Parts: sequence; C-alpha cells; structure tokens
Amino acid sequence: MGHIICISNQKGGVGKTTTSVNLSSALAIAEKKTLLIDADPQGHATVGMGIRKTKELKSLSHGLLEDSNADELIIDSDINFLKVIPAKMDLFRAEAELLSRPGREGLLRELLDNIKDKFDYIIIDCPALTSILTVNSIMAADSLLIPIQCEYYAVEGLKQLLKIFEIFKMKFNPEIKLEGILLNMFSPDEGLSRQLTEDAKDRFQDLIFRTVIPRTIELKESPQYGKPLLLQDVKSTGARCFLDLAHEIITHR
Ligand SMILES: Nc1ncnc2c1ncn2[C@@H]1O[C@H](COP(=O)(O)OP(=O)(O)OP(=O)(O)O)[C@@H](O)[C@H]1O
Ligand SMILES: [Mg+2]
Repeated sequence: MGHIICISNQKGGVGKTTTSVNLSSALAIAEKKTLLIDADPQGHATVGMGIRKTKELKSLSHGLLEDSNADELIIDSDINFLKVIPAKMDLFRAEAELLSRPGREGLLRELLDNIKDKFDYIIIDCPALTSILTVNSIMAADSLLIPIQCEYYAVEGLKQLLKIFEIFKMKFNPEIKLEGILLNMFSPDEGLSRQLTEDAKDRFQDLIFRTVIPRTIELKESPQYGKPLLLQDVKSTGARCFLDLAHEIITHR
C-alpha cells in the first residue's frame, strides 16, 4: 500500500519544492516506486523535474475538475522509478472553481484511491498558503513532512506550527501522522544555525529528522537545470543529504 506524504508549511520559500523534488528522486533511486504530485499552481516541482508545460500536457487540475483519472495524468521522469503528476497555471483556476464544489476537500483523495497501490511512496508538493489544494493534500495524505528554515523565528515558531497541524488534523484528517520536521538551509559555519539545530533537536526530539539539509549553492542552482540535484551531481552534499533523508523515511516505518 502506497504511503502518501504531504510536504507543507504555510510559509513560502522554506524548501517545500526542493524537498519534494529531491526526496522523491532519492526514494526512486532507492528503487521505491514513487509518484511526485505537483499541487502548487506555480508548478515549480514540474519545472524542477524538467517537464515542459505545453498546452497538451494534462495537469492535476484535469483530475480535480474534469473526468481524467490519475493514470491519464501520470508522466515518466528521467528516473526509472519516479513518475510525476505535473501542475500548470490552470491549477489556479481549479483552485478558484473548487471553492464552490460540494465535497471539494476530498477530491485528491478520491483521485489517488485507484493508484495508491501502484506506488510505494506518493509525495505531494503543496502551495505556500493554506489553500483548498493544501486541504485536499492533507486529506489525501498518510503523513505530513514540514520543512522549516534553520533560522530563529522558524525554530521559535515550531510550537505554533505544530498546533496548526493539530487543528488541521482534527478538522480534516484525524488519521494523518507527522512524518517529521525537516531542518533546511542549515549553515554549518554559523554559530546561530548550529545552536538552533541543537535546540530544536533537544526540544522536539524525534519529531525532527536526524538528517539536516545544509544551505548549498548546488541546491540553490539546481532548479534552473530542470533536473533534481541527484541527477546533476549525486556526490554533492545536498544530494547525499536527500539520500540520507530517504533512508531515514524508509527505515523509520
Ligand atoms: N538547502 C538549500 N540550499 C540552498 N538553497 C535552497 C535550499 N533549499 C531551498 N533553496 C532555495 O530557496 C528557494 C525556495 O525554495 P523552494 O522553492 O524549495 O521553497 P518553497 O517552500 O517550495 O517555496 P514556495 O512557498 O514558493 O512554494 C529556491 O530558490 C531554492 O532553490
Ligand atoms: Mg514550492
């Protein structure tokens, strides 16, 4: 049975897409059958995977608004075990239209019902705000992975973030688990970054992944090449960290 992980944080620019693209690649390189779903109308994960947003390309919105089933939306990637459901601008329209649909929160869950068994992992890249697409992702998911930046306000706000998670859980999906909090953009040379990482691990213990993702030039630049970092430079620190994170997730359950 496939395990669905929703990657979300209400804050923008914290590394949701970077994590979605590179974690799903790492799981696939470990020969886990993986599906990456781009649920963000910005379509950054789609671009990061090097998928061209042509007119003909079907996106997640076809599955949510029209009658396409999930199989019709899935496309191959450059990695054997990794498939993708892409997003295009039309997902903005879908987002607006969904607001007036009955049963709108459970559409993604319904869409994935038929294909869940074909994959080991399904990774959903959520938009920044708590949009109806995020609600759909949380309703469809078995667990939530929250990336945060290694900076003072983010670590200080962690308790609040976990409270928000509890509210969502109660309201939309009581079964959902916390997969973990991922510390991203760690700067090993900065005392504050090291201190924050230690504090977070002390205070939140095993809610925090052991793997911490450093801030690296390779991770920053990789989206422009339209390839996950693991395909560009598997030996880079960033790529190795995402392989470690995949290992942690695979062995954790
Ligand atoms: N560990 C890292 N090291 C260096 N740059 C990073 C790292 N993680 C993310 N970035 C960069 O930070 C920016 C924001 O990352 P990303 O797009 O993954 O965040 P996001 O949470 O998905 O943003 P949005 O809320 O807009 O969807 C991107 O330019 C990305 O390349
Ligand atoms: Mg993003």
